[in-house]
Amino acid sequence: MTSPLAGRVALITGASGGIGKAIARRLADEGADLCLTYGRNADDAEQAADYARAQGRRVIVTAADLSDPQAPGALVGQAADELGPVDLLVANAGTADIKGWQKIDLESWNATLAVNLTAPWLLAQQVLPTMIERRYGRILFISSVAALTGGVVGAHYAASKAGLHGLMHHLAPRVAADGVTVNSLAPALVGETKMFPADLETGTPPIPIPVGRIGRPDEVADMAIAMLRNGYLTNKVYTLDGGILPRD
Ligand SMILES: NC(=O)c1ccc[n+]([C@@H]2O[C@H](COP(=O)([O-])OP(=O)(O)OC[C@H]3O[C@@H](n4cnc5c(N)ncnc54)[C@H](OP(=O)(O)O)[C@@H]3O)[C@@H](O)[C@H]2O)c1
Repeated sequence: MTSPLAGRVALITGASGGIGKAIARRLADEGADLCLTYGRNADDAEQAADYARAQGRRVIVTAADLSDPQAPGALVGQAADELGPVDLLVANAGTADIKGWQKIDLESWNATLAVNLTAPWLLAQQVLPTMIERRYGRILFISSVAALTGGVVGAHYAASKAGLHGLMHHLAPRVAADGVTVNSLAPALVGETKMFPADLETGTPPIPIPVGRIGRPDEVADMAIAMLRNGYLTNKVYTLDGGILPRD
């Protein structure tokens, strides 16, 4: 059966990271065309692009420093020019500057908020008009269990991820009748990423995980695809954390 995501244009930020690469590969399997963005690591994004091209997908790979508020508009414009209007936005890029609350200076606070919250907001604001016009759209924010628990990275990180949930709750009901869903996927402790580079087999989690191991990027990608396929799911935070948090 053809996937409901086949032929859609997806913009995935942070496609050079562990989770972004996995989502890009799974979206290519679903038949979506891809605009993949990276910050500093072009080669990693190109790996995902090579896979998608081998599946016959149209792919562009582009650098974007998402701490620059001009970047989201430029990205959405480039994707539209080269692939067509964005149908699926996966706002996945994120930064995690591990610091105790006493040590978070304004520079670190602003840098974290810029990438983790302001950029997803500006991207959503840019893609929504054409999604509404075309009566189809999917916005997925990759947040974190830290938004719900406080987490271990820092106050700035937890606040930035919690901000995504507020943003989602505001937008989702306002665009639902236009065929646009807005959801958040909140993972915890996913290995084989630059953010948490632990080995999947031997990595020791900083807190106990009921399933007994850290998560895999492809498990996050599987959940992302299920959320993107589903037109009846909106305004939701789904946690994916090996059972750490007894909710959602
Ligand atoms: N791994 C976990 O345990 C975990 C848990 C909860 C939530 N998350 C969230 O999952 C998402 C993906 O992270 P990951 O685990 O895959 O980590 P990762 O491997 O470190 O990937 C992070 C991605 O974000 C990009 N990025 C960072 N700063 C950027 C900037 N200023 N401009 C543009 N792109 C930027 C990186 O690009 P370059 O590498 O090209 O610079 C990379 O593609 C993040 O939002 C993260 O907060 C991860």
